[in-house]
Parts: sequence; C-alpha cells; structure tokens
Amino acid sequence: MKPKVLVTREVFDDVLEYLSKHFEVISNQSDQPMDAETLASKLSDKQGAMITLSERIDATLLSRCPNLKAVCNIAVGYNNIDIEACNKAGVMATNTPGVLDDTTGDFTWTLILATTRRLTEAEAYLRAGQWDGWKLKQFLGLDVHHATLGIFGLGRIGQVVAHRATGFEMKVIYHDVRRAVSEIEEACRASFVSKEELLSQADIVTIHVPYSSATHHLIGKAELKQMKSTAILINASRGGVVDDVALIETLRSGTIAGAGLDVFENEPKFNPEFLGLKNVVLAPHIASSSKATRHKMAMLAAENLVAALTTGKPPNLLNPL
Ligand code: DGY
Repeated sequence: MKPKVLVTREVFDDVLEYLSKHFEVISNQSDQPMDAETLASKLSDKQGAMITLSERIDATLLSRCPNLKAVCNIAVGYNNIDIEACNKAGVMATNTPGVLDDTTGDFTWTLILATTRRLTEAEAYLRAGQWDGWKLKQFLGLDVHHATLGIFGLGRIGQVVAHRATGFEMKVIYHDVRRAVSEIEEACRASFVSKEELLSQADIVTIHVPYSSATHHLIGKAELKQMKSTAILINASRGGVVDDVALIETLRSGTIAGAGLDVFENEPKFNPEFLGLKNVVLAPHIASSSKATRHKMAMLAAENLVAALTTGKPPNLLNPL
C-alpha cells in the first residue's frame, strides 16, 4: 500500500503526477485555505504533507497526526513550521532554498523602481482620467542610479539584490547578524556597516532576513526615524519583520518618502490603512511568483517529500533528527 500524503493547496498537474507515482495523494486542488481544524483532520491519517506558508504546523496539530513523518514547505521561509515541535514529534521538515533567489531578487527591484518612481500612484492618476498634460514637476521621484542601497541580510536573496545594483552604479552597504566572508562582500561590492549606519546612510533600505522572534519588528518606529526623509523602505521578506503600524504612521507623516511591500503582518488580512496611502506600493506576496520559479518550488517540495518518505534523507531537511 502506498503511503498517504496531503497536498494542502493547488499545485501544478505534473507535480501531482510525480507524487502519485509514489503516494496515495489527497489534494486540495480547489485551493480553499484550510483552517487549523480542517488541516488537523485531513492530516490525521497521513504520512506526509506538502504545505504552503498559509498552513501552520505546531505541537497541537502534530499531536493529532500520529503517522506524520514529513512536512514539506513550498517556500524557503518556514516560520509557519514550529521546528522544535517537529523535532519532538519526530517529523522531518523541509523548505525550498535556492530555486527562488533570482526571481525574488528581480521582484525586489520591481518594488524599488516602482516605489522610487511612484509608478502605482502615477498609474492610478492616469487610469482615473486626471492626466491633462505633461508637467515639469509631475510625479517627481527619487533616482536609483548612483544612490546608496542598504541591504538587511546578505544571504542568498540579499546577494542577488546586491548584484543587480551594479548596473545602477550604486553604493551598496549591508548589515547582517554575521559579517559575510570577503569573497561574498567583493562579489557583491558591498560594505558591512552597523544597523544604525545602514539606516542613516541608505537611500533605499531593503530587507532580506528570515522572520523569527529575533527579527520581529527589526524595523519599528525608532528605526524608521533613523532613515533619511528622502529614503524608501522595501520589504519582500516576511510580514512581522516590519512594524506595520509604525510604518503607516511614518508614511503618513512623510518621515520617509515611501515603501514597497510584498509582505504584511497578519497577511492576507493586512492593515487596511495602507490602502489610503499614496506613497506605498503594495503587492500580495508574489515576489517568487514567476511561472518557472513557482513550478521549481513545488517540484522541489515534492522531491523532498518523496525522498523523506522513501530514504529518510530529503535534500532540504531543516531538522536532522
Ligand atoms: C518563500 O519562499 O518564503 C516565499 O515567501 C514564498 O513566496
């Protein structure tokens, strides 16, 4: 008898076909998000699951899933999985590192350019039929070329963002919990600075750190105050790394020039106050969403699930047990 696995959200057909060669697959191809109770009941007799960041895996859920051996996230970030609880329950957890770095880096640049050049604000004006002619001072933005880019987190995605800055002839500074090795700094042409230096010197502050209790509200009221009044903040990492209430106040008072956000606290129920602000570019957590990359993410998660339940050695194991 094939092991039973649950695929919690819609995936590509060939990914399901691949899984079906190894498992009895129960999948939620209608893509209705599951509440905790539905997820627990659907997972209670499964050996494995392919999940997304919308599903929370914690001790309460695991206590109801005695057969579960592996949970495979279709995401590199895994703050939806309580790793400690997985360790206690003997459940392998995996993520999808590496396959989304370029696409997420590209989208970070989409946000940087759209925010500095006020693209969504200008488009809304045009769509509303308000454009009555060229004006010298219309939608004056901020130059990206030769500006200073400040990167929080020079991991895989942060490095991609730094590489892309070369074409704009930017000065790149970064801060991280650990200084990168000199080869990475040289390849990225990035100089290590303190958090305070980054905030006060950068024209563009972009965040590429994982979410955890250590990075919760890494950027709050005090940090936003340290930024230049002409600077913009970009977040394509995780909601919760930025204090959204503080950011809204800051954007409203013009203490910084703007923000470009792909992620929010409590998403998808993000703070509606953002909608009333013109100086923010908003996206629904799509930084990794190119056709090719989302397919690679789903296939890698499937490969992790197959390896976990057949060999016990998935390539992207987060918690060697
Ligand atoms: C990730 O992989 O963590 C992304 O946020 C998912 O889009």
